[in-house]
Amino acid sequence: MSEKMMGVVYHGKGDLRFEERDIPTILDPRDAIVRVGMSSICTSDFHIRNGAVPRAKENVILGHEFAGEVIAVGDAVKKIQPGQRVAANVETFCGECYFCKHGFVNNCVSGGWELGCRIDGCQTEYVRVPYADNGLTLIPDSLDYEDVIMISCILPSGYFGAELAEIKPGDVVVVLGAGPVGCTTMMSARLFGPAFIVAVDVIDERLEFAKKNGWCDVTVNPKTQDLDAIVKGLTDGRGADSVIEVAGGHGTFDTAWQVARPNGIVSLIAMYEEAQSLPLHQMYGKNLIFKTGGVDASHNDTLMKLIEGGKINCRPLITHTMPLNDIMHGYEIFEKHLDGCVKVAITPYER
Ligand SMILES: NC(=O)c1ccc[n+]([C@@H]2O[C@H](COP(=O)([O-])OP(=O)(O)OC[C@H]3O[C@@H](n4cnc5c(N)ncnc54)[C@H](O)[C@@H]3O)[C@@H](O)[C@H]2O)c1
Ligand SMILES: [Zn+2]
Ligand SMILES: [Zn+2]
Repeated sequence: MSEKMMGVVYHGKGDLRFEERDIPTILDPRDAIVRVGMSSICTSDFHIRNGAVPRAKENVILGHEFAGEVIAVGDAVKKIQPGQRVAANVETFCGECYFCKHGFVNNCVSGGWELGCRIDGCQTEYVRVPYADNGLTLIPDSLDYEDVIMISCILPSGYFGAELAEIKPGDVVVVLGAGPVGCTTMMSARLFGPAFIVAVDVIDERLEFAKKNGWCDVTVNPKTQDLDAIVKGLTDGRGADSVIEVAGGHGTFDTAWQVARPNGIVSLIAMYEEAQSLPLHQMYGKNLIFKTGGVDASHNDTLMKLIEGGKINCRPLITHTMPLNDIMHGYEIFEKHLDGCVKVAITPYER
């Protein structure tokens, strides 16, 4: 095994470099080392690059979405063994603190979003995963890396958004943004039995993609259609029972609370790069419930079962596949949505 590996390193605002790094080793008995079999790029990686994630550290390898093979484990690791195929969790969590015990793993006192943010992540060849028993989920033999790669971040994020929205059977749910996280949000919302999932985006191609895959029932492009009228038409004039904001665009926060019915729930998953204003004087009396969050990815075993059972299929989200050698090109097509790009799968480095 070569002592060096290639990876995408964050060197401060606007500065990503594809460069050589040392292969990681076990530093704590609860660590595992995973050889990356497949990784991906998340919109949150751009937020780090743009200097909009205060907790991010410089000189860190980016990437928090991956699956691969365990090659070494520390003495205290119980569940995971070398040779097993695993999918990683974006969150690092101890499993023992107050927050972990309540499922609030994003706020674990010794973790949270660490991989590819504060410690080296997965847009490389090998990753050290702390608290490996919590941070890795075994992959059933029937599934490929393509089936499970979204379980690291965007699937639990979509599920989290749907959970926060407290969807009840028969509800009308608006999902703002039909990007990759919007799509996993719709798939997750479906599990809770709404009557209508309304997908909203300014890119027609993305709306068609979500509709074609059966993730939504109604599509709305607010540039050419009247979102408010369409939602009121579906709800006897009330407004949406819940709104999940996964667009993070200009004005989408305002749309989110405006399109919700009185006493509705607004679930905010988008990561904003700027402050949003909460005009309480305008929304007075509407009695809305706002919930926000960085994903508490604490249901990955359940999500793996749902994938295994065919109840969730994220595979169509992978529109492009390329080796790690070409990852900077992957960043470009993913960011600019070139060539219909929804999500890029990165395969191992080719020497
Ligand atoms: N909370 C979390 O833990 C978590 C986890 C993962 C991602 N995220 C965030 O979720 C967000 C979405 O991620 P993504 O990968 O799907 O991003 P994306 O940029 O691919 O998708 C956003 C979509 O919103 C659409 N949009 C933009 N402005 C709009 C407008 N005015 N009206 C309607 N649609 C509009 C865009 O066309 C795009 O398709 C990002 O901010 C990302 O950082 C949060
Ligand atoms: Zn992510
Ligand atoms: Zn904890």
